[in-house]
Amino acid sequence: MNRLPIVLAAVSLAVFVGACDKAERWHSPFEGTPGATSQTKPSGPAAPAPITVDPARFAAFGAVPARMDDAAHPTSAAKVALGKTLYFDTRLSKNHDLSCNSCHDLARYGVDLEKTSSGHKGQRGTRNSPTVFFAAGHFVQFWDGRAADVEAQALGPVRNPVEMAMESDKAVVEVLSSMKEYEAAFKAAFPDDKKPVSFTNMGIAIGAFERTLVTGPSKWDRFVAGDGKALDDVEKQGFNLFYETGCISCHNGPYFGGNSYRKLGDKKPWPDQADLGRFAVTKIEADKQFFKVPSLRNVAKTGPWFHDGSVATLEDAVTKMASFQLGKELTPADAKAIVRFLETLTGTLPTIAPPVLPKSTDKTPKPSAK
Ligand code: HEC
Ligand code: HEC
Repeated sequence: MNRLPIVLAAVSLAVFVGACDKAERWHSPFEGTPGATSQTKPSGPAAPAPITVDPARFAAFGAVPARMDDAAHPTSAAKVALGKTLYFDTRLSKNHDLSCNSCHDLARYGVDLEKTSSGHKGQRGTRNSPTVFFAAGHFVQFWDGRAADVEAQALGPVRNPVEMAMESDKAVVEVLSSMKEYEAAFKAAFPDDKKPVSFTNMGIAIGAFERTLVTGPSKWDRFVAGDGKALDDVEKQGFNLFYETGCISCHNGPYFGGNSYRKLGDKKPWPDQADLGRFAVTKIEADKQFFKVPSLRNVAKTGPWFHDGSVATLEDAVTKMASFQLGKELTPADAKAIVRFLETLTGTLPTIAPPVLPKSTDKTPKPSAK
């Protein structure tokens, strides 16, 4: 407990005062002295004391929403349906071989499992593809936050020469207007627009679809909802270590991240300085090596890890975080326990059936491998 940063101690104390009588309504394992966590390691001959988690600690996180709607981006069933079709349509790429789903496979927790993604003509970018599940809930998009929201973000990859490589916004509109079904779907999604088929509206529709991309309850969610048996002792101990080591000073909120920029290598310089993160966007010296703190929801399914995909195991990722972000060296057993906890953040994957795409017509531009 003495390792807890002062601010967090104050927060949990404040919450704890209010949570006293609530704690009494919780069943095992929250019975016993709130605030006390067992220091017992599950080794040695004596039966280890049960590991408890102080429910006051839940306050730093909170539940994820059922979908990430936002009043500034009014949604509709027509927008979501159109966005889903666009998300899977490879004709939004120059060679008709890449869709959003190629690098953010919804059947694989929204990632491609590659170090860095393979785009147009197999070109590799420099960054690892983050998951689209829960991305819409983040405060900004991309590792460096250069897009404000998913609606703006969706326009990037379509025009990025190492991703989908479309030559102009106009070329995209040409593809979309070549099919009657798209004309009708854009009209239904944007009934008040004079020109419903537009590059911007494509982004808005894809964004509306992304705002529905959530995974179902994880073990952690069930635990927080009162199912004390949802986590085993090592997972509970892993959470306590995650909390007490100070991971929560950056990975907090419903997504365990996605709500701030922080320096990668806060306590000592990160070995790879090739990518300066936020600095590339702002050109402010103090932003060098700052990246968006990623969400840890489903993190066990989204390796390899970090902006450059440089770390191949979650245990290594956790050990490096403690060392570079917090100046603390974890024992292998503690790192493993934190990994076991992180695995409890894996939610159930929704079944998203790929849509039936409109058929190309004579007017649809042909693929180009150039
Ligand atoms: C060739 C692979 C590739 C394709 C195709 C692709 N992306 Fe990405 N996506 C990436 C990579 C790599 C990043 C991280 C880039 C960065 O941060 O600079 C990213 C970032 C994102 C993010 C930000 C998530 C976060 O946590 O910040 C979202 C959302 C996203 N992509 C959605 C899409 C959508 C929608 C499409 C289709 C229009 C798409 N992507 C097409 C590789 C791809
Ligand atoms: C000072 C802020 C800070 C602290 C403290 C911190 N992290 Fe991070 N974490 C980050 C940032 C920033 C990144 C993204 C780094 C990058 O650019 O690749 C990150 C990335 C990660 C990743 C990789 C996620 C992915 O999708 O690639 C994991 C796993 C992780 N952190 C776990 C932890 C754990 C466990 C702790 C505690 C031992 C911790 N972090 C402490 C800021 C922090």
